Amino acid sequence: MNLRAVKGMNDFLPTDARQARRVEEAFRRTMERAGFGEVRTPLVEPTALFVRTIGEGTDVVDKEMYSFTRHDEGLTIRPEGTAGAARAYIEHKVHAAETVTKWFYTGAMFRAERPQRGRYRQFHQVGGEIYGDPGPACDAELIALVVEFLADLGIGDAVVHVNSLGGPEARARYRQVLVDYLTPHAEKLSADSQRRLASNPLRILDSKAKEDQEWIASAPRISDVLEGEDLAHFEGLKKHLAALGVAYVHDTQLVRGLDYYGRTLFEVKAAKEILGAGSTVVGGGRYDTMIGDLGGPATPAIGFAAGLERLVLALGEQKAEESLLPVYVCALGESAVSPALVIGRDLRRAGVACEVDGRGQSLKSQLRRANARGARIALVVGEGELARGVVQLKDLAAHEQVDVASAELLASVHARLAKATP
Ligand code: HAM
Repeated sequence: MNLRAVKGMNDFLPTDARQARRVEEAFRRTMERAGFGEVRTPLVEPTALFVRTIGEGTDVVDKEMYSFTRHDEGLTIRPEGTAGAARAYIEHKVHAAETVTKWFYTGAMFRAERPQRGRYRQFHQVGGEIYGDPGPACDAELIALVVEFLADLGIGDAVVHVNSLGGPEARARYRQVLVDYLTPHAEKLSADSQRRLASNPLRILDSKAKEDQEWIASAPRISDVLEGEDLAHFEGLKKHLAALGVAYVHDTQLVRGLDYYGRTLFEVKAAKEILGAGSTVVGGGRYDTMIGDLGGPATPAIGFAAGLERLVLALGEQKAEESLLPVYVCALGESAVSPALVIGRDLRRAGVACEVDGRGQSLKSQLRRANARGARIALVVGEGELARGVVQLKDLAAHEQVDVASAELLASVHARLAKATP
């Protein structure tokens, strides 16, 4: 039997998990500082929720969902977080309790995509949603928050792309303009785009197929058909972004792959080429009709999600945080093992992270592991030391060693760690 992880689904061993946690913690900090509360929704939702929101004709709904039937109910393991959060918002009548709601979430999402670097079948998102604020100031602030989060992580060289789809009428108008423009060239388009011409023509603008590029480049722009309030909204967004000093490009071809958007759309692309297929680290936009479409009261909304794995890739070789294990306790000889375990426990109780080596190996071998673990201090607990009521403290960073009376040990360790911390 050769059991392996499901294709496109990754293990996070401790080094990777540490990077992931670093991203999640930076995210949490940014969001809580901006007044967002955490929401945790189930991994599994009714399939109809995703079909109704993300939409038929999208890759996610047509090809990528992990769906199954259990107890006669069609269920899907969530491909994204927005739909489930919207369902929870409506189900718990959150709109009745507050006019504006700000939520964030982190967690695993599932899409049966073709796996490659930066694109997986189980991946993780950190995301945020705002309900109840229709204005462009809200959009600008959210985009600025995303930029702040990336800067906090040390990803400063990412580029913000924004576009506006307009509201449902503008979108319908543009859809027709695009279909009229592309139909005479239909046979020259890629097979996927030919199919999308009928089902979801806006997605053609997102096509990577070589034969489509010529037509995409000279296609009419949605910004050309924006008018009235849609136009004013987009102008407002750009004004606030400028005031906030957020550099962005107006990407007239940005359409995004999910159907629920209207008006503001944005993506953040990592400048580094290390991301392969997934240079887009963040995607988001406004979806003012979703809450009403799902049976809630008409409530404007906007949100974003960032791919955790892609952020970790964008961090590249940036070092994960310093060793979490400053102290290594070495037991020398069988009778020293119990006392060493007690020292380890007492250190941890006092808040000092440490590991006890009770394997009964040579001091050399234990110190080798202490170094490999990044310890700054090794405490050698030997029979001779115990008899004298001391422990040998090896300061591995300062290359010093001293005997410390057992009663003084904690204070001594604390003092050295405090000194060694830059
Ligand atoms: P999305 O663009 O489908 O939007 O995904 C957001 C981000 O999740 C992407 O930019 C990417 O970093 C990451 N991502 C997506 N698919 C994969 C994959 N297969 N492997 C690795 N990373 C991936 C949404 O999901 C929307 N719910 C965002 C949103 C929130 N819009 C409004 N509110």
